Amino acid sequence: MTIEIRPATAPDAAAIADLHQRSWRSAYRGLLPDAYLDGPAAAELAARWGRAFTKDEPRRVILVAMAPDGIAGFVAAWPNTSRMALIDNLHVAPGQRGGGLGRRLMGRAAAELRRQGFEAAFLEVIEGNHGARGFYRRLGGVEGELFVEPIGGHPTPVFPVVWDNLAALEAACAP
Ligand SMILES: CC(C)(COP(=O)(O)OP(=O)(O)OC[C@H]1O[C@@H](n2cnc3c(N)ncnc32)[C@H](O)[C@@H]1OP(=O)(O)O)[C@@H](O)C(=O)NCCC(=O)NCCS
Repeated sequence: MTIEIRPATAPDAAAIADLHQRSWRSAYRGLLPDAYLDGPAAAELAARWGRAFTKDEPRRVILVAMAPDGIAGFVAAWPNTSRMALIDNLHVAPGQRGGGLGRRLMGRAAAELRRQGFEAAFLEVIEGNHGARGFYRRLGGVEGELFVEPIGGHPTPVFPVVWDNLAALEAACAP
């Protein structure tokens, strides 16, 4: 199956929000309260993605991976400082995980961030999300000190994961 990665545009917002919600429900079960995952999370994500494309932010990167039958993954990154980007979201559709798409999305995001002048990037990963933590370690990400972040209003232990060198991240993602 051919999966094309391309920049996302405003008409992709609903599909991204839908995948985001499905991905949270499968990956964050047991890490965030069921009442939140099965309740207000969907509306919050829909609102967040509805707003994402209205902001005038020239240095953001939002990429979608499109399979013939619809969206298979996405990655989003925003400026944190002039040289450091926050990779805010990376999700692969539950049925597509483990096939190399996460690596492709990270590689494309790293390349695009470098093109925009960023040198480094970080993200936050929930302590109990062992799959994603293993994936980031495999790509050279370095975990910092655990801290507590409110996610949907729920105090949640998260690790920062840092890549000091986006060129090295891009190389680690090469096929
Ligand atoms: C995390 C996620 C994006 C990774 O994408 P993926 O397509 O499943 O991962 P890939 O197939 O591209 O894996 C790339 C490499 O990471 C490794 N990897 C993947 N999952 C891993 C795990 N659980 N533990 C250790 N290594 C792992 C793979 O083995 C592969 O390395 P290899 O080529 O040497 O074998 C995806 O699984 C996902 O969407 N998870 C749920 C949502 C989520 O947690 N997102 C992150 C939020 S911070």
